[in-house]
Amino acid sequence: MKKNVLITGTSTGVGYESALLFARNGFKVYASMRNLAKGEALQQQATTEGLDLTLIQLDVTNLDSIQTAVDTIMEADGRIDMLINNAGAGFGKTTEQASIEEIKWVTEVNYLGVVYCTRTVIPHMRKQRSGHIINITSVGGLVGQPFNELYCGAKFAVEGYTEGLASYVSDPFNIKFSIVEPGGISTEFMKSAIANTASAEGQLASGEYLPIFQQYMAGTQSRAGEGELQVYQTGEEVAQVILEVAQQEEPPLRVRTSAWAEALCHLKTASDPDGTKLVNQVKSSFL
Ligand SMILES: NC(=O)c1ccc[n+]([C@@H]2O[C@H](COP(=O)([O-])OP(=O)(O)OC[C@H]3O[C@@H](n4cnc5c(N)ncnc54)[C@H](OP(=O)(O)O)[C@@H]3O)[C@@H](O)[C@H]2O)c1
Repeated sequence: MKKNVLITGTSTGVGYESALLFARNGFKVYASMRNLAKGEALQQQATTEGLDLTLIQLDVTNLDSIQTAVDTIMEADGRIDMLINNAGAGFGKTTEQASIEEIKWVTEVNYLGVVYCTRTVIPHMRKQRSGHIINITSVGGLVGQPFNELYCGAKFAVEGYTEGLASYVSDPFNIKFSIVEPGGISTEFMKSAIANTASAEGQLASGEYLPIFQQYMAGTQSRAGEGELQVYQTGEEVAQVILEVAQQEEPPLRVRTSAWAEALCHLKTASDPDGTKLVNQVKSSFL
């Protein structure tokens, strides 16, 4: 029987590419997005290729929309095999300059949305005694970066949340958990991050932070074009790593998607690159 998969945030980027790639590789794909009007290109491509792909409305910050999407899948298939928590949004304002509303929003989209979707799906997976939840975080989930502390904090939260679940839910209920940690990806992400962050005057930082921000931006641009390791991947390349994780019998807890991402996180991950030792140690310490 075909495995089904619910993917969040498939209007663009990694989610869009993953939806197509998973469908091309034999999955029944529920490609969710908050605004179905953005789904035309994905639907057209799926139809052209004759793929088993259904668009479904889901806003990760809206509990009703998550419940409705999951109910729809359960009614159609009676099971849910895989959830890919991919939806996310960049944010690059300093803690001082972000409003409380912005802080709540960046945390909800990048962290609480993962908790809400997981919480809705997990009872079905527990009853089935099978399932796989793949959370897309970032190198920013392992390494805090300038002007990204609010985004990184939310991604760190997803990492800790996933480690915690993997420690006691995987074995008794046969639910696997994986975290995919990309570096830079050439998607709509940067554009949206700037749109989400710019002030009414179009500034991303001001006052005493402005020169530090300018230095950061100049460094980001020059780093992208030099060095042996390529900073940016395409959405397809990252989708391919997610597919490989999804296809494994014993998937890793965590994986970086490029040599650049691996190098950036090396100090944190060198002793236990895929997280297996960590999960085993936590299990033996607490259970
Ligand atoms: N691009 C990078 O450099 C990079 C690096 C590391 C990790 N990541 C992570 O990779 C994942 C995919 O990002 P991407 O690069 O593919 O960026 P993207 O092209 O901007 O895609 C983000 C997706 O998330 C969706 N989304 C945003 N808010 C949502 C909400 N409330 N409910 C449902 N969907 C929502 C967007 O939908 P709309 O079109 O409706 O906004 C879009 O489909 C994210 O988790 C991101 O944090 C990205």
